[in-house]
Amino acid sequence: MESIKDRLIGRMKQYFSDDKKRIQHALRVTEYAERIFQYEKNADRDVVLAAAILHDIGIHEAERKYGSSQGKYQEIEGPPIARKIMFEEELPDKLVDEVCQIIAHHHTPGVLNADNFKVVYDADLIVNLEDRELKKGRFLTEGGSKIASEGQLTK
Ligand SMILES: [Fe+2]
Repeated sequence: MESIKDRLIGRMKQYFSDDKKRIQHALRVTEYAERIFQYEKNADRDVVLAAAILHDIGIHEAERKYGSSQGKYQEIEGPPIARKIMFEEELPDKLVDEVCQIIAHHHTPGVLNADNFKVVYDADLIVNLEDRELKKGRFLTEGGSKIASEGQLTK
């Protein structure tokens, strides 16, 4: 049986289809989330990975409906799509609810205080800093700032 991670990566790739840029972004965020997770003892691996893989899943719907990929629109459009995917993958309700909450706030730090949220937020932040989508940001986890300061931001 494939892991939750592999199954959701498969679904994410299928959903984004030929949008290689979004696929690569999600994969890189997932990689960093997995690394930051090592430092965050209270985080849940499946929640962190599922949320990292699916965090931007609403971006196409945001662009289609509002003509904008702005965070606030993704936060609205992402959760129902993620929920449908995770429901079809028969993932537990508790995990599904938490992942949807994280997606609904992934551009809005300070609302959710859970470690799972912080890991995903920091992983996205590192990738957005590397890509110069953001010039600066404040990390929410020690692991995130540690990994960022280890000279990983080399792009
Ligand atoms: Fe992202």
